[in-house]
Amino acid sequence: MKKHLLACLLGMCTAGMLMAQTPVYLDDNQPVEARVKDALGRMTLEEKVALCHAQSKFSSPGVPRLGIPELWMSDGPHGVRAEINWNDWGYAGWTNDSVTAFPALTCLAATWNPDMSAAYGKAIGEEARYRGKDVLLGPGVNIYRTPLNGRNFEYMGEDPYLAGIMCVPYIREVQKNGVATCVKHYALNNQELWRGHIDVELSDRALHEIYLPAFKAAVQKGGSWTIMGSYNKIRGQHACHNELTLNKILKGDWGFDGVVITDWGGCHDTYEAAMNGLDIEMGSYTNGLTSESKFTYDDYYLAKPYLAMLKSGKVPMSTVDDKASRILRLIFRTSMNRHKPFGTLTTDDHYQAARTIGDEGIVLLKNASATKKSAPLLPIAGDKYKNILVVGDNAIRMLNQGGGSSDLKVKDMISPLEGLREVYGDKISYTRGYAAGRPMYGRAEEVPQSVSDSLRIAAVKMAKDADLVILVGGLNKNNFQDCEGVDRLSYALPFGQNELIESLLGVNKNLVLVLLTGNAVEMPWVKQVPAIVQGWYLGSMGGKSLADILSGKVNPSGKLPFSFPVKLTDCGAHSFDKLCYPGDSIKEVYKDDILVGYRWYDTKKIPTLFPFGHGLSYTTFAYGKPQLSSKVITEDGKLTVSIPVKNTGRVSGKEVVQLYLGDEKCSVLRPLKELKAFQKLELAPGEEKLVPFTISVDDLKFYDEAKQDWKAEPGKFKVYIGSSSKDIRQTTEFELQ
Ligand code: BGC
Repeated sequence: MKKHLLACLLGMCTAGMLMAQTPVYLDDNQPVEARVKDALGRMTLEEKVALCHAQSKFSSPGVPRLGIPELWMSDGPHGVRAEINWNDWGYAGWTNDSVTAFPALTCLAATWNPDMSAAYGKAIGEEARYRGKDVLLGPGVNIYRTPLNGRNFEYMGEDPYLAGIMCVPYIREVQKNGVATCVKHYALNNQELWRGHIDVELSDRALHEIYLPAFKAAVQKGGSWTIMGSYNKIRGQHACHNELTLNKILKGDWGFDGVVITDWGGCHDTYEAAMNGLDIEMGSYTNGLTSESKFTYDDYYLAKPYLAMLKSGKVPMSTVDDKASRILRLIFRTSMNRHKPFGTLTTDDHYQAARTIGDEGIVLLKNASATKKSAPLLPIAGDKYKNILVVGDNAIRMLNQGGGSSDLKVKDMISPLEGLREVYGDKISYTRGYAAGRPMYGRAEEVPQSVSDSLRIAAVKMAKDADLVILVGGLNKNNFQDCEGVDRLSYALPFGQNELIESLLGVNKNLVLVLLTGNAVEMPWVKQVPAIVQGWYLGSMGGKSLADILSGKVNPSGKLPFSFPVKLTDCGAHSFDKLCYPGDSIKEVYKDDILVGYRWYDTKKIPTLFPFGHGLSYTTFAYGKPQLSSKVITEDGKLTVSIPVKNTGRVSGKEVVQLYLGDEKCSVLRPLKELKAFQKLELAPGEEKLVPFTISVDDLKFYDEAKQDWKAEPGKFKVYIGSSSKDIRQTTEFELQ
């Protein structure tokens, strides 16, 4: 008995001793905060500072002495980028870093389907994990303010509510892989021209009502573990070390416990970086770890200069403790997370996800008949045509290349031409029609007029004999198109495409136009072209998705996440002087204020080419009378609006039912209406479903600049329910008491 007791005590003692030997920070049964505290307590000041800046182009160090691993980052947001060299932007030339390219975020937003966003996040998160990444640089949620912004294709459109809903499942699913998302570019990086220094001035209302809500949703609802500061300035201070947006709003009001990472080279000042909420500095100019003492990673603003300031007491130690704690927390969540899955790469599931997202995001802008007696041109029944001519550089172009940091090295890629050939076989012939230069980032090739002329003439000649012409055009990822670092120079389609379209129409009215872009474009021929499809950038399975829609295998259900103005000067940002866009190269004033996108066109009664939320189907939907649960809503209450929606056509289809609210009388200017809820539902022919929406008082609020808080004023609110922001099928109203 005694022996047994002794053995037990000894056993406990040994186990206890062993447990005591495992440091808390290495014990993943301990709460993360305890591990952070423990690790921090073991670190030297130099080690803490080292965490706060890059050690290579895409990594930051851990704490080697303590066995705390590095953080490896990668672009984002449409696939996991190929490996970059340690010290420069060149590709490292690995052979195991080819990935799935997913549709651009504009396409994801156009699905208006959070389930698609979850599928996207799951697939890209698994690829990031498989590739050994800890931080995926995306998604982007900057608001679409002007169709000239070169990076709109990486964002989720003009509406803060839509972007806020759509980014959340992406973030949650990526992070289930032990990979952090890095939501970018926080904030007000709404153009590429002068992005490194343009100083944005705007009202508190525009900031809180338009430009911040998607970031807030990403942080509070998505729980993103990191966020990327943008290049521009906000009210005089660089966004990567900005007292208002980082300290006050992000880390204060929103309670963000994650890590602020600079955009690459976005840090400009040690004191500000130390004090104003920056945690990790990446991409500042460096010639790498050479023998020179100049411009090494140690010379980053948050490296030696920071250490010196800390030691001399110019900035408090609490700043580095806070930064290091946040970074350790991130490391425990990602690189040091023993429970994360292993990830997968280029699987059938990932290709299927890319295809389904493409299928749901493609928007049927217009579908008329070529002549009075014929049926709408789409879908294209294979037996109807003998000879289908595909025209266009974008039908065969590698659109995953170029564009900037979202450039991808794909394992597989199905072009629109290949996708159409799979369905229509040798009925398809192809000619280029226009030339756009080789795919490249940061440059554009001039194509001689004679080349353009001869390509156009050849296409017109072939179009004369074709039964149907499908022109796959739009923009591309070269400079001044949909491309990082520069804005578009014009709203018009480039490479002589307007002339090409007119010439093709001159010989063949059966013209289907497919636009592959991340932006709206001007359409002087819109009335003459019978069928127009907005096909975005669709990634690896793009050709299949396009063929799915054009053939009718899939009924289109995408809706525009931004408006297409008739002309550029109709757009709010372009309705004032240069200071409003692009600024005077130093400063820019957002005079369009809270009236961005449809909020502007609606309120100012300006017709658009295609409105926000627009997208046709091969079937039709009827909206019944909306029912309100109550005619009044109280300060702390909610009410329900239900509306029956019926598929009145002959094929199954998906409809996005959109609910907008308008504040009928208010002491401040409010947009005519604002999107507050939507639901995508699938209906079989003849099927009807009741769609319920819940409205709460928060949905009625505006940002009160005097009180610096959200406020709803009592009175009447109008409910608009429809198939787009313009195609409103039913209205009703209620009162806030
Ligand atoms: C871009 C970021 C990108 C980073 C790293 C920057 O130039 O603005 O979006 O994540 O480079 O490639």
